[in-house]
Amino acid sequence: MPQKASWNSQQTTEDRSLQQTLSSKGKLPKHIAIIMDGNGRWAEKQGFSRVAGHKEGIESVRDIVKASSQLGIKFLTLYAFSIENWNRPMTEVGSLMKLLELYLRQEIEELHKNNVRLTSIGKISSLPKTVQKLLNNAYQQTKDNTGLTLTLALSYGSRWDIVRAVQMIALDVRRGKLSPEDISEELFPKYLQTADMPDPDLLIRTSGEVRLSNFLLWEMAYGEMYILDKYWPEFRREDLYSAIENFLNRERRFGKTSLQINPSEAEKTKDSMLMRVVNAITSV
Ligand code: IPE
Ligand code: IPE
Ligand code: MG
Repeated sequence: MPQKASWNSQQTTEDRSLQQTLSSKGKLPKHIAIIMDGNGRWAEKQGFSRVAGHKEGIESVRDIVKASSQLGIKFLTLYAFSIENWNRPMTEVGSLMKLLELYLRQEIEELHKNNVRLTSIGKISSLPKTVQKLLNNAYQQTKDNTGLTLTLALSYGSRWDIVRAVQMIALDVRRGKLSPEDISEELFPKYLQTADMPDPDLLIRTSGEVRLSNFLLWEMAYGEMYILDKYWPEFRREDLYSAIENFLNRERRFGKTSLQINPSEAEKTKDSMLMRVVNAITSV
């Protein structure tokens, strides 16, 4: 059994009170996904190599994982390496893989101790064998943890995942396990790698880019997006809190009208209309 959550005991009173205030403002997102972008630009701005930016980005990952766990967020999905990122210069890809290996070696124990379950999405078989092994050990070690589910998107591409799902569905049809009429909006996502998690409520992207870059295309149909100019190595828990606060002020309508979503508002409108009618009649 994991020991008592040590991250909670490390928390400052001020931070705890910030988190409590946030939680009291509404229902926190169940699933937060983050496109951790801008490591290279951050490093270039300081005159460092791009790799130094990736290293510093790990500090942000540590803080955000901890803060999400302390807040009681159930799912955090981090876009760490896209399938298209393989097209970067070999030296950068090599360094990223080394950093990933280091991160896993250094963090798994602490994640486990804090009741975090580690999972991944993406074409894991294309990662270096050492990384695959570390990931497999981490899944095994943390599979029964009940706190935050931390999913690393590694060699991930949403189009790749969607095509793969279509292939698996086609195979099931060929085997007679499914008929084409069974394919529905409910069934399809069961074939995606994200099948075991709810769709993201909130997607954060750092570095000001306003695009999905092949991340969770299906799953983000109704997810709220929050984009900020800060580069990922500058992103810390206070920025996460701002993103969540902004999310809590949004009205998620899922195609409906505001009045349908907020019936008490509808009643208020009806009441005020009635009052206007009454006033008009009594003033005659
Ligand atoms: C995000 O930062 C990390 C990865 C994509 C691996 P970038 O490396 O994309 O940094 P920029 O966007 O070039 O500044
Ligand atoms: C998206 O960032 C991928 C990750 C953060 C891992 P990129 O830097 O690869 O995205 P583009 O190329 O700017 O769209
Ligand atoms: Mg980038």
